Amino acid sequence: MKVIIVNGPNLNLLGEREPEIYGNESLEEINGWIQNHELCKDLELEFFQSNSEGEIIDFLHSKRGEANYCILNAGAFTHYSYALRDAIVGTQIPTVEVHLSNIHKRENFRKTSVIRNVCIGQFYGEGKQSYINGIKHILEKKK
Ligand code: DQA
Repeated sequence: MKVIIVNGPNLNLLGEREPEIYGNESLEEINGWIQNHELCKDLELEFFQSNSEGEIIDFLHSKRGEANYCILNAGAFTHYSYALRDAIVGTQIPTVEVHLSNIHKRENFRKTSVIRNVCIGQFYGEGKQSYINGIKHILEKKK
């Protein structure tokens, strides 16, 4: 089973960006931890990060028919990108929305997710564990 793990804008700065909210680990370290997690041992994972909405959409397009699932931390695009929402619907890649922080306990604008209704789940507030919670959700669905 192929799962793409997609991170959006500013997540390349993890480790140095607002560590009190997002922690001290870099995206590379988090991706390595996910890759080596025992829940992922039978999965083919591909990691992608971009700060550009168009590049993320192009990546999703390129994975249609290939990726079975997507774990998506869309960063701030979560809150307003209808283009990304349409890409999730259009590519038909079942997608789980994830966030490191608790988006429901921060600024008001973060409480809105325009992708939530087209995703198969939403996991947030547990740091890097949120990604694994997303994977668990996918594995539950497969049973
Ligand atoms: C985030 C939450 C978003 O509101 C924010 O814009 C991010 C990261 C998270 O992982 O907690 O860039 O998606």
